[in-house]
Amino acid sequence: MVEPKRVQTQNLFDVIQNRRSIRQFLDKPISDEILEKILTAGFRAPFAAQLCSVIYTRDQKTIKELRQTGVYPTTQVLMLFLVDLYRHEKVMKQRGHTYEFDDAFALWLGLQDVSLMVENLILATDALGLGSVLLGAVPHFVDHLTRIFEIPKRVFPVVGLCLGYPDSSEHTEIRPRYPLDFSAYEDKYRDSTREELLSAMNVMDEGYLAQNYYVERNIKIPLRKGEDRIDYDTYSWCEHISRKFIHGGWTKASFLEKLREHGFKFD
Ligand SMILES: Cc1cc2nc3c(=O)[nH]c(=O)nc-3n(C[C@H](O)[C@H](O)[C@H](O)COP(=O)(O)O)c2cc1C
Repeated sequence: MVEPKRVQTQNLFDVIQNRRSIRQFLDKPISDEILEKILTAGFRAPFAAQLCSVIYTRDQKTIKELRQTGVYPTTQVLMLFLVDLYRHEKVMKQRGHTYEFDDAFALWLGLQDVSLMVENLILATDALGLGSVLLGAVPHFVDHLTRIFEIPKRVFPVVGLCLGYPDSSEHTEIRPRYPLDFSAYEDKYRDSTREELLSAMNVMDEGYLAQNYYVERNIKIPLRKGEDRIDYDTYSWCEHISRKFIHGGWTKASFLEKLREHGFKFD
């Protein structure tokens, strides 16, 4: 019998607790060995059907070309995590089967696989002394990314990741989260009272204000309608995250259309 390896749980919890997004990186290349270690850790995550692929580049020309997708200028490695139904169908075909599955649910499974893979990879990155930040806007640039990385149909980018050795001159802090009892419920869903809601929102808002997060970065999403009564001193996370969801870059219909253009089929 193979003895299970002793897991250093304390180290794992340290990595989780201390992780924060890094947006400024040293001009220090990442070796093949480190990259392989990080990617292998990512793919050790649990999977539904291994519907996740990764494309990565260390090519600074490509990285520069992709600045518009939100890539940070000092990024050493850019990764793109994709839901990959194309490869899965090849496996099925090889086994003599035809894919007749519901694409919406396959996409859902793919998102599950991508999410778990990415978080494993991020934690491995931190454990090795590197840092990273996710890029959520990449689906908006799917056509451009498809051209650059020669992505086949039925493969769709979910999220990107900038990676590198952290530049210690960047001011980073551990960002707040909702209190646990606002997000985790035992036995059944528990709706919050108004007081609990306000208290949880206050944790987020005061936490970000104390870190001067939005002022330091000059971030404030403008309102398209009505007078903006919130100034920089009070603009904080709850307002920011609310403003993000007032309008969509894409309507629901056009996002589905984009997926269709890239080979996904929905009724
Ligand atoms: C799916 C996803 C997409 C994200 N996209 C971006 C992004 O485009 N640019 C960015 O600077 N940070 C991005 N982030 C990082 C979040 O802003 C960050 O995780 C959050 O503010 C909490 O901060 P922390 O990671 O330092 O704890 C993204 C995070 C996730 C999970």
